[in-house]
Amino acid sequence: MKTVISAADEEAVSLAGQILRRGGLVAIPTETVYGLAANALDEEAVRSIYRAKGRPSDNPLIVHISRLSQWGELVEELPERALALAEAFWPGPLTIILKKSPIVPAATSGGLDTVAVRMPSNPVSRSIIESAGVPLAAPSANTSGRPSPTNAGHVIEDLNGKIDMIIDGGECRVGVESTVITLASEVPTVLRPGGITPEMLEEVLGEIRVDDSVFSPLSEGEAAPSPGMKYKHYSPKAEIIIVEGGFERFESVILEHETENPVALCFDEDVGRLGGFECVSLGSENDPSAQAARLFSALRELDERGAGTVYARLPEKSGIGLAVFNRLIRSAGFRVI
Ligand code: TXA
Ligand code: MG
Repeated sequence: MKTVISAADEEAVSLAGQILRRGGLVAIPTETVYGLAANALDEEAVRSIYRAKGRPSDNPLIVHISRLSQWGELVEELPERALALAEAFWPGPLTIILKKSPIVPAATSGGLDTVAVRMPSNPVSRSIIESAGVPLAAPSANTSGRPSPTNAGHVIEDLNGKIDMIIDGGECRVGVESTVITLASEVPTVLRPGGITPEMLEEVLGEIRVDDSVFSPLSEGEAAPSPGMKYKHYSPKAEIIIVEGGFERFESVILEHETENPVALCFDEDVGRLGGFECVSLGSENDPSAQAARLFSALRELDERGAGTVYARLPEKSGIGLAVFNRLIRSAGFRVI
């Protein structure tokens, strides 16, 4: 298949709308990561998303809307607290899970009785949803298992020749995927941390939980509250080992270890102090938003450099740092020393 690659101009948005209406696949920029979009209500179109990504079919997709009025028909009921979250954080990097209505195909919800919905803030994604005139199912536009794409180059690497169109909207501002919260459980529960932090959600909802799977691997046989959590994720080819403790400990681990092609995945402040050791930086130690924006590019860069073993500094676990921590321990297969 020939993939049309285009800048995000009016003509491209209009063509993307046509392609999506007739069941095609378009990679679109959002403020979090690039999404691989199809008509969420068209079962066949949604199936082709799973094929293009090589994604397991029980891993449900997020449905993207551009106006609040599109939400009601997707869900059984819109409770007060859902509207309060939308009021506070939409458009933006928050995904809300509720019981689904019958119009949402099983392919979109991964066979679950719930549906995840988000209204992105990126103006290009909003105008593409408008142009398509239907809600768009869109997982991250990477090959399943690879780091999520934060620029069009990443999407081209993974999906060129497999989808109809890629729209280049530049670098993604947030850089990690949206926060996923379920309101289908008794206590609202964060299943995936992102740009909207637990602290911000608590302010609107009162008591919330952060699911255990955010911090630690599922034990064998345990059902995943969010099916995406059970799959290996965000993995570069290199083995990643996270080093707990401050810089001194990190430095001594690096000096002791003799592995092939070691690379330090560290902070800007560390680069000079590591004296010529090969480094990929996530950004300043005190700037978790910058680290989030850089993370997936950095993981791809490790492969390009042919890294063997990667030693990573442990990010701060509060605010958006929790999202960086969550993606990094998954890419490390939970190896922390
Ligand atoms: O920022 C984002 O959310 C990006 C952009 C493109 O919007 N999309 C994204 O989609 O990250 P994806 O498919 O890569 O991740 C969706 C996550 C998965 O972990 C999936 O298991 C979970 O959300 N999810 C979706 N629907 C769910 C549901 N009904 N119940 C539980 N988890 C659900
Ligand atoms: Mg993904």
